[in-house]
Amino acid sequence: MSKIGVIFDLDGVIVDTAKYHYLAWKSLADHLGFEFTEAHNELLKGVSRVRSLEILLDIGNVQLSEQRKQEILISKNEEYLGYIMKMNADEILPGAEKLLNTLDDLGINYVLGSASKNAELILKQVGLYHRFYGIVDGNAVSKAKPDPEVFLIGAKKLNMPPKSCIVFEDAIAGIEAANIVNMTSVGIGDKDILIEADFNFNSLTEIPEDFFSRFLSEKN
Ligand code: G6P
Ligand code: MG
Repeated sequence: MSKIGVIFDLDGVIVDTAKYHYLAWKSLADHLGFEFTEAHNELLKGVSRVRSLEILLDIGNVQLSEQRKQEILISKNEEYLGYIMKMNADEILPGAEKLLNTLDDLGINYVLGSASKNAELILKQVGLYHRFYGIVDGNAVSKAKPDPEVFLIGAKKLNMPPKSCIVFEDAIAGIEAANIVNMTSVGIGDKDILIEADFNFNSLTEIPEDFFSRFLSEKN
């Protein structure tokens, strides 16, 4: 058995669903009568669905009843699912499949650690579901990143101590969550934003061939 395990965030690491979240949140904001920009959307990355709505309503300075919020969460997700159902393997982000192949070759297990309640469906749409050793998604956790719950459950699935897990994340909250429990954090995206990560790459394509093998030998 390998000495390390890998945990992947989904949105922004394996696929780019942020654009679909944006379209669905934007049509809600349009309906409520305020502007919701792509810059605003950045604030929702890695954040749970419920918390995303709270942030959105704060942006629009809109107050709604609990019941209305529940209705809105359902209709936002329905619109989002409309986009997800059209996804296919073309939407896998560059470098992701190659990275999974490398891990398979090295015998390193990997699981998903995502806040999304739609993670399973998305992975099935793009044809990657069967490749993961386990899935930890928004249905399995009660505390959102930066709480490390999602990654700790992932480590358990991998049967690895947290310090032997490498986490790939595009959100600050996810890097924080990994760091809190001494996992190795790899930031995918802007280095200046993901400054707390142990390693930084602009995209998965930049990860050196020997990234994991070097890691394995360091652990010996
Ligand atoms: C990911 C995304 C967030 C999204 C969250 C919940 O973490 O980065 O932008 O809000 O998942 O997604 P869901 O599919 O459950 O609405
Ligand atoms: Mg993400």
